[in-house]
Amino acid sequence: MRVLGIETSCDETAVAVMDSTQGLIGHRIYSQIPIHTLYGGVVPELASRDHCRKLLPLVQELLEQIKCTVTELDAIAYTAGPGLAGALLVGSTFAQSLAWSLQIPTLAINHLEGHILAVMLEQEHPSFPFLALLVSGGHTQLVAARELGRYEVLGQTLDDACGEAFDKTAKLLGLGYPGGKALAELAKQGRPGHFQFGLPMMNRPGCDFSFSGLKTKVRQTWENSNQCEQTKADIAYAFQETVVETLIAKSERALSQCGYHDLAVVGGVGANERLREHMQMTMNSKNVSVYYPRPSFCTDNAAMIAYVGLQRALHGEQHGLTNYVRSRWPLFELQSPVLEN
Ligand code: KG4
Ligand code: ZN
Repeated sequence: MRVLGIETSCDETAVAVMDSTQGLIGHRIYSQIPIHTLYGGVVPELASRDHCRKLLPLVQELLEQIKCTVTELDAIAYTAGPGLAGALLVGSTFAQSLAWSLQIPTLAINHLEGHILAVMLEQEHPSFPFLALLVSGGHTQLVAARELGRYEVLGQTLDDACGEAFDKTAKLLGLGYPGGKALAELAKQGRPGHFQFGLPMMNRPGCDFSFSGLKTKVRQTWENSNQCEQTKADIAYAFQETVVETLIAKSERALSQCGYHDLAVVGGVGANERLREHMQMTMNSKNVSVYYPRPSFCTDNAAMIAYVGLQRALHGEQHGLTNYVRSRWPLFELQSPVLEN
């Protein structure tokens, strides 16, 4: 079985083809970041328009590159939510039109399930059940992944997402948009011990997060500092250490709650080198195996959507031609095709 995956939930237009025997055959990601940089954040209408412009040529390019014709496709999986409604509609309308013309089924895929299962695209991957730390620009959650379609959120952010905190802090320090990666680069020049921020929400039980207080503390510290380049790097370092330590401490709590020994770190912030390094060290000493998608599959991509689509299709799932997208779509509302079929 061969599935075309389409991702247009935010500011990346991405396409991929997964095959049940050959695995991931090819994928393409086109980033709209240069368009939105000018405005310091994603402009939803510009995102939708650019998805309209790029999606068809990207699918054509990919199919040509992998020498696959549309008639060889058995299903089309597309991100149906959560995300920007207009951006999602472009992917869903495209997927449904193409599926209708080819008389093949579609699969409406949840973007968060895509991020969690992106780790399955790697040779070294966990098996169910495992804990997922999902840290992206829009979400921060600790999820017990029991099997395909069955997820329990053990903790989540009460305010800003982790990637959002990185981006807002980077913007404050004048590092552009989205600044998560730039902040991580700058933190490499930072010196330990020059600034310290308390770990947010650590004195409360449970696995929830909060990043907005930290962001405010960073702003106050920066505004009251000498604002030289070294200070900027020192603050970036202290901010990153605080976030990384918080993510690790809450992951430890969630692991003891669910009793799993496999942890997958997924989503855009999962590409952060310091998080990977520190997480690895901590979890090794606790007999927990840590898995990550490759950095390009931590951030938004269509390989993860094609993967989930293929798994669901192999369990007999298929959706009709309803133009249905959901800007909010929590994981607990997902159905497991494993239980149903
Ligand atoms: O998963 P993703 O592409 O989008 C959402 O679904 O939200 O994640 C994007 C987020 C952005 O906030 C970006 O700044 C952050 O991931 N990010 C990073 C790094 N690379 C991307 N944050 C910290 N360190 C990185 N190396
Ligand atoms: Zn995402």
